[in-house]
Amino acid sequence: MALNLDVIGKPLPPVTYSYAWKDVVLYALGVGAGFSDLDYCYEKQLKVIPSFSIATLFEFLAPVAMESGINLGGMLHGEQELIFHNPIPIEGTLKSEGKITNIYDKGEGKGALIVAESETYHEDGQKLFTSIITLFGRLDGGFGGENAPKNDVEFPDRDPDFVIEAAPTEDQPLLYRLTGDIFDLHVNPEFAKMSGFEKPIMHGLCTHGFVCRGLIEALIPGEPEKARRMACRFSKTLYPGDPIKTLIWKTEDGSAVWRTINAKTDELIIDNGIFEYGDIPKDEVRFDDRVAIVTGAGAGLGRAYAVELAKRGAKVVVNDLGGSRDGSGDGAATPADEVVKEIKDMGGEAVANYDNVATPDGGENVVKTAIDAFGTVDILINNAGILRDKSMVKMEPENWNAVMNVHLNGSYHVTQPAFKVMREKGYGRIIMTTSAAGMYGNFGQTNYGAAKLALVGFMNTLKLEGQKSNIKVNTIAPIAASRLTEDVLPAEMLEKSKPEMVVPMTLYLCSERCPVSGNIYNAGMGGYSRTAMMTGPGAVLGAEGEMVSLEQVRDGMGKIASMKDAKVFGQLNDMMGDLMMAFSAPAEDTAGGSGSGFASATEIFEAMAGGFKADAADGVDLVMQYNISGGSGGEAYFVIKDNKCSLEAGSHDKPTFTMITDDKTFIDMMNGTLPPMQAFSTGKLSIEGDMMKSQLVEELFEF
Ligand code: NAI
Repeated sequence: MALNLDVIGKPLPPVTYSYAWKDVVLYALGVGAGFSDLDYCYEKQLKVIPSFSIATLFEFLAPVAMESGINLGGMLHGEQELIFHNPIPIEGTLKSEGKITNIYDKGEGKGALIVAESETYHEDGQKLFTSIITLFGRLDGGFGGENAPKNDVEFPDRDPDFVIEAAPTEDQPLLYRLTGDIFDLHVNPEFAKMSGFEKPIMHGLCTHGFVCRGLIEALIPGEPEKARRMACRFSKTLYPGDPIKTLIWKTEDGSAVWRTINAKTDELIIDNGIFEYGDIPKDEVRFDDRVAIVTGAGAGLGRAYAVELAKRGAKVVVNDLGGSRDGSGDGAATPADEVVKEIKDMGGEAVANYDNVATPDGGENVVKTAIDAFGTVDILINNAGILRDKSMVKMEPENWNAVMNVHLNGSYHVTQPAFKVMREKGYGRIIMTTSAAGMYGNFGQTNYGAAKLALVGFMNTLKLEGQKSNIKVNTIAPIAASRLTEDVLPAEMLEKSKPEMVVPMTLYLCSERCPVSGNIYNAGMGGYSRTAMMTGPGAVLGAEGEMVSLEQVRDGMGKIASMKDAKVFGQLNDMMGDLMMAFSAPAEDTAGGSGSGFASATEIFEAMAGGFKADAADGVDLVMQYNISGGSGGEAYFVIKDNKCSLEAGSHDKPTFTMITDDKTFIDMMNGTLPPMQAFSTGKLSIEGDMMKSQLVEELFEF
């Protein structure tokens, strides 16, 4: 099979990797750590060997190999570079995304190089490392492509500054493979012989881990978190039990070159080594060159947001009409001007705007101020607010409407013109400000509660509309001492609740790295939490096609109202999908299953094609794509048209819907031992495209 040059630059599917401290220790033991470096092995003082990062990327490597079309029979790990941005935590879930960046041709008979780059982030949004992996395809050269630029490392013409010896044991690969790379070449003597080796060989990345420990021991003893970059080229294989020596030359401050030899044969096994180290620059969240609008920034929370944004490099539009607490009166320029002065006095950039966000023109003008002064808008914090508390019987339309106008309509008036700019430029961060009064209720605040919770609905849809343009929309529910809360919060709470305690949460949601969109966070007094709209699993009442009676609902209330196993839906479609899954397969009916005994996705595809019900397909015209990962998985699609069904292997360009799952889940579902709804609701099965049409599967096939 020829190399597939079309994949260059196209994103590969992101992979996630969850791990706990025991995985970190297992890796350390796999690369020879022991009592001599207990920090890598003892959970009470655990540090992660930086090369562990590559062990988290196995699942990323499979698509690199598959998509590039490399001949697997001649594939070797050629080069590996790791750039460390932050220390690797001892547990968590990592997400890696990347692409094939180049495919080089070394010439006929000389092989090809496939280079793939990925970035890995921790679930908390922190970027941990960049990996650049080069696969060497021994059998793929001579396709007429460019050769890779030369990047040989120059070694000083003197004895090395350090020589670190290590002795992987005869059984080392048996331990190392438990970290994820279970390829037969490292365990099965027969397989190794067939591949031309005397016996199973060391994993190149296991030797790499030994070397990483050695480099740290020599250059930054006890401080693995100071590793910044490690790069090398794998030259020759190593048998377990052969001792190694890593020769290290310091070249300048914070930088060294190295190579590793087989101490028994003197053969070079890893060449071109580079190691950089030193303090990781202070990882400050910055807003340099970002333009931020904060409405109602003349006082309270808005002022605190504006000042901190400016301190961290943002150019800020300080909007405030300078009104009274209930929004009455003419307003004044003073509050906005004073905040602008405060920002300028500390060396920041800001302009004042005195518009009333409660009018469409006011909203337009706030955004125009940003464009005129700074050329764009990247961040919008909808914060302006007033209070007109009244119990329901005393709530005049004027008080109802005034609160709606400032909070709900005001957010719309400013967001719309800002959103247009953000969509155009493909970047934006928008904050809505809700309130505990809206989310949970507060006596005398029907107007305020309604307006504040409406903003959550506003966010829920805007997050979808902004998704493709990297516009993230989140909501803050603050608790802070201000003139709005001076008579609502108890005195002792006011003391502890400076607006500055809300600022870190809100500004995190405004930051470039913020990974979330569509979430609500409570913040104040040092406490931070997420809140969400949760939906219980509920109950499906009545047989299909039958009406449900009031009495059935009454009798089913136990299940209907239960919030056990409740979950958060990302959008309306997800909720509908769940509901449809519930109709299609009640758990009790399918568990235990038909026991068809399928063992692979291919068997299932063929059985489906054989069981197609032509008479049930009148007027049906669709393409069903199945992407099943794993060893017994596969990709195939069914084209159903004119009451006929054809099965093709591979991927269709425009499927009507795509079912994505792993082989085990698919087989269990099709064998009837796993209800599809359960697979869907636990995230094991996902459906892209027209979810409604995916419901036809049950009607169209019988097998
Ligand atoms: P604040 O009264 O200190 O600040 C609000 C600012 O908005 C004032 O400077 C005011 O002049 C300005 N403003 C009012 N109407 C405006 C309009 N139509 N156009 C432009 N500016 C206008 O109040 P605080 O506490 O800082 O509140 C900020 C936001 O946080 C509000 O949306 C409020 O509802 C919300 N909030 C505050 C809580 C708290 O504990 N302080 C609790 C929950 C929500």
